[in-house]
Amino acid sequence: MQIIKAKNYEEMSEIACSMLVEHVQQNESPVLGLATGSTPEGLYHSLITEYRKGTVSFQGVTTFNLDEYVGLDEEDANGYQFYMNEKLFNHINIPKRQINLPNGVSADLDKDCSDYEWKIQEAGNIDIQVLGLGLNGHIGFNEPGTSFLSRTHVVDLDESTREANARFFSSIDEVPTHAISMGIASIMESKKILLLVSGKEKAEALYQAMNSPVSEEFPATILQLHPEVTVIADELALSKVL
Ligand code: F6R
Repeated sequence: MQIIKAKNYEEMSEIACSMLVEHVQQNESPVLGLATGSTPEGLYHSLITEYRKGTVSFQGVTTFNLDEYVGLDEEDANGYQFYMNEKLFNHINIPKRQINLPNGVSADLDKDCSDYEWKIQEAGNIDIQVLGLGLNGHIGFNEPGTSFLSRTHVVDLDESTREANARFFSSIDEVPTHAISMGIASIMESKKILLLVSGKEKAEALYQAMNSPVSEEFPATILQLHPEVTVIADELALSKVL
């Protein structure tokens, strides 16, 4: 694992942005894996800024998001399609047909999951996958105990994850109980992974991800086995590691 220490959240976001921009500039059909949540918001903001400056075009980019809640459609302000539209896609020139998220309102969720896997493979796999880190070690919505062999699948969300995400909803009762997530094996097939971590509350999780024995009980430990992981984290998040 390569570790890049950023002073703060803004610097973490800028560094991640430069890496993605460079990759997009140098490749004709780049395939990016994207995450939602608080962590990548600054990255998306910086990407929009670069696009507006004319530094980068997203015309040839294909994206795959890690996850989506079950039961929320693209009009739902808490859904991840809505989040991605608001935070990134509505502001850059990526063609809609090149944007992919799991469909949380599919009539056949299992089929949608296997189609999603197929689409990723057809695109030649993800070049760079952006990941955030859950307090319990989850990546995507792969909660502790998820098989390392898992592919895109329907997951039961952990109570702790629903509590952590309740801040986006008016009450915890509104947080969906299920989501669709790329699996651990799907994530591990990405050619490169950027793990973004910010803030003191993530310090213990980042320490464990990097130092605990690799175990399904703390999913992010699998990243120790990936040949090309770059951790971009701020000083607070790295306070237990370095
Ligand atoms: C989101 C996702 C999650 C988040 C994680 C951290 O697409 O896959 O694994 O990355 O829950 O969330 P934040 O960034 O809100 O702390």
